[in-house]
Amino acid sequence: MGSVTLGAAARATIVGFSALAFAMILLPALAPAQDGSVEAGADVFKKCRACHDVGPNAKNKVGPLLNGIIGRKAGTIDGFSYSEANKKAGAGGLVWSDEVMFEYLEKPLSYMPGTKMAFAGLKDPQDRKDVIAYLKQFK
Ligand code: HEC
Repeated sequence: MGSVTLGAAARATIVGFSALAFAMILLPALAPAQDGSVEAGADVFKKCRACHDVGPNAKNKVGPLLNGIIGRKAGTIDGFSYSEANKKAGAGGLVWSDEVMFEYLEKPLSYMPGTKMAFAGLKDPQDRKDVIAYLKQFK
């Protein structure tokens, strides 16, 4: 006596609502590097284009082509002649995850001393998130 008994349907509704509320709280926290904009990233990539190519007919230029770069081991694009620093980073296990790319692009020369990528970096964290979102489209 005195206890509230809920029907199965009511219980299922309550469980459903709490799962939804939980997901709404949790999802944004889980996706810190996923909130880049592809459109804004296309604009940021103009800074990279002088040296890097992407897309179906991409070729190595001053820098390696960047198709499929996210998730790839550093220094492994076919036919590109990397610096020792970039090759060693890959041999040492460096993989271009979202997080690694995010840190590297802030100041490439500090992240990878000895790299021949002559680029000061992208100070604005949003620019870095956007360009990462853009790069992800090219498999
Ligand atoms: C002035 C030319 C230049 C610009 C501008 C430039 N890069 Fe590079 N990038 C290079 C060169 C050269 C390398 C090869 C570095 C080495 O071997 O040390 C490189 C290497 C890289 C790598 C490592 C590739 C691998 O396979 O390990 C990434 C990632 C990268 N660049 C991303 C970018 C992005 C993103 C931008 C724009 C925000 C950019 N770069 C702008 C010249 C440039």
